[in-house]
Amino acid sequence: MNVVERIYLFSRFERLWHWSQAGLIIAMAITGFEIHGLYSLFGFETAVDIHTTAAWLLIGLWIFAIFWHLTTGEWKQYIPTSERVLAVAHYYALDIFSDKPHPYHRTRLRKHNPLQRLVYLALWVIINPAIWVSGLLYLFYSSWASWGLQSHLDLGVVAFIHVATAFLIVTFLVVHVYLITTGHTVLEHLKAMITGWEAVDADPNVEAKAKE
Ligand code: HEM
Repeated sequence: MNVVERIYLFSRFERLWHWSQAGLIIAMAITGFEIHGLYSLFGFETAVDIHTTAAWLLIGLWIFAIFWHLTTGEWKQYIPTSERVLAVAHYYALDIFSDKPHPYHRTRLRKHNPLQRLVYLALWVIINPAIWVSGLLYLFYSSWASWGLQSHLDLGVVAFIHVATAFLIVTFLVVHVYLITTGHTVLEHLKAMITGWEAVDADPNVEAKAKE
């Protein structure tokens, strides 16, 4: 049987940032796809108002989060690593269904497994900037002419990038919610993002290290 230990994984700021971001993105997905015409919920005008207000809040939050990651050095947790990446992929594809232990040992200083690092890095470097830049261009469409952008940009292309990225974010959310349920218990990862404390497998090398 695996030995489990409890470690403090998520600081108060990280938890606050995570849940505010989650709430804003869900609100933006709901209003965004209404603006896109998929359904009618708040009414077009209100959906645009909510979407725009949430956009400014999200941009403010991201600026804060970037500042926090840079000043605390936590950005280093997103540096990709090829170490055990295949083992982790194999675990989620197959081993998880036969109750095998997770191949990656998490600690406060390495809280993301190699697959998570790759996905979160792609979010920070590709997906978030794409939704952010296309959204701002969309928002300031009426200023394109005065900024001299009219002949360089096409609203159809900007809208396509915005909607395509929104679909990617929703896909991420679905996979993310599934993975949240794959901790030691179904609610373990969720609880960790609320309390900060997470149960992880004890370091399998800890005894060997103690004997050294
Ligand atoms: C910084 C972030 C964002 C900004 C500045 C922004 C801004 C905008 C603007 C100005 C519009 C057009 C509203 C109108 O027609 O008047 C729009 C539409 C839309 N937004 Fe966002 N948005 C952002 C983030 C998001 C996110 C996170 C999602 C979903 C996960 C999203 C999904 C959509 C969708 C699906 C549309 C409809 C586009 C269309 O049909 O052409 N947006 N957004």
